[in-house]
Amino acid sequence: MVNKAARPTNDLLGQDLWNIQLDSQGQLKHLLTIEGLGSQMLTQILDTAESFAGVNESVKKVPLLRGKTIVNLFFEASTRTRTTFELAAKRLSADVLTINISTSATSKGESLLDTLRNLEAMQCDMFIVRHTDSGTAHFIANHVAPHISVLNAGDGQHAHPTQAMLDMFTIRRHKGPDFGALRVAIVGDILHSRVARSQIHALNTLNTGDVRVVAPNTLIPKDIERMGVSVYNDMDEGIRDADVIIMLRLQKERMQGALLPSEQEYFQLYGLTEERLRVAKPDAIVMHPGPINRGVEIESSVADGPQSVILNQVTYGIAVRMAVMSMTLGRSVSQSSADDNRESQ
Ligand code: CP
Repeated sequence: MVNKAARPTNDLLGQDLWNIQLDSQGQLKHLLTIEGLGSQMLTQILDTAESFAGVNESVKKVPLLRGKTIVNLFFEASTRTRTTFELAAKRLSADVLTINISTSATSKGESLLDTLRNLEAMQCDMFIVRHTDSGTAHFIANHVAPHISVLNAGDGQHAHPTQAMLDMFTIRRHKGPDFGALRVAIVGDILHSRVARSQIHALNTLNTGDVRVVAPNTLIPKDIERMGVSVYNDMDEGIRDADVIIMLRLQKERMQGALLPSEQEYFQLYGLTEERLRVAKPDAIVMHPGPINRGVEIESSVADGPQSVILNQVTYGIAVRMAVMSMTLGRSVSQSSADDNRESQ
């Protein structure tokens, strides 16, 4: 179920918000948001990622994007996303540039569009963009040369589609392909989380049986029920019998005013402890997009415990980003072609 009311209204987003992600054949050209993509497309991303996960575990490198140039444009801090995009591009044999924004001409007042025009002049094929402003990746996709693909690596509070897809990949690997049988609880700062928004769209598109958000009312967006989730203010009720628990970081950098009494009180009410985890199903998995704050949203022993798949998520992120890169650059890869093209590093 897609919440039309939740569609971003930022002026930067332009027109044809959903259609610009697909080319005239319905193939993925840009990945800017999960919204507007159907279950078939999401499943294609997951299946393609599955073939690359095998590559990552064995030979490490395929020549699919040899001769392509991919630019990492990160205007906001990142460890996992930037690094796994870079590794994914290298494993597909692309040339990768990571622009250091703090030392680039942007810091001397050059406009975003002028920076893009200069990168286009260097014959780049793909921009991977993270920005504090919602809508930046859409803005760039609306202005780049037609052969260039744009991947959104997180824009403001709006979307983080590759994170959502690696999370779906993690759930499918650990819980099987029947999303309809699953109860998924997303716990924490839903209000400021682009990850939660993209996860909810992906879970609903894949027809997940029960999607819940768990947080104090101050951290839940108004009308979120219209996105097809149920809301819980009580942590024990919210995670009861859950198959999957996704913990979120408190995004203090995006909070305006006092939304919480204190981190200690937040941990008491919403922190995932070993004791509290027992309320979920015995084989529930614990996920977190990172960075984690131990003792704020999650107890260390849970983050490092047997039900945690937090580091698996990071590993799977490489395969998922390889899938999205190969699909958007027009090289949809099946298992057999991946096998045929393998070469030693
Ligand atoms: N999950 C995530 O986006 O992490 P980074 O901020 O480290 O990229």
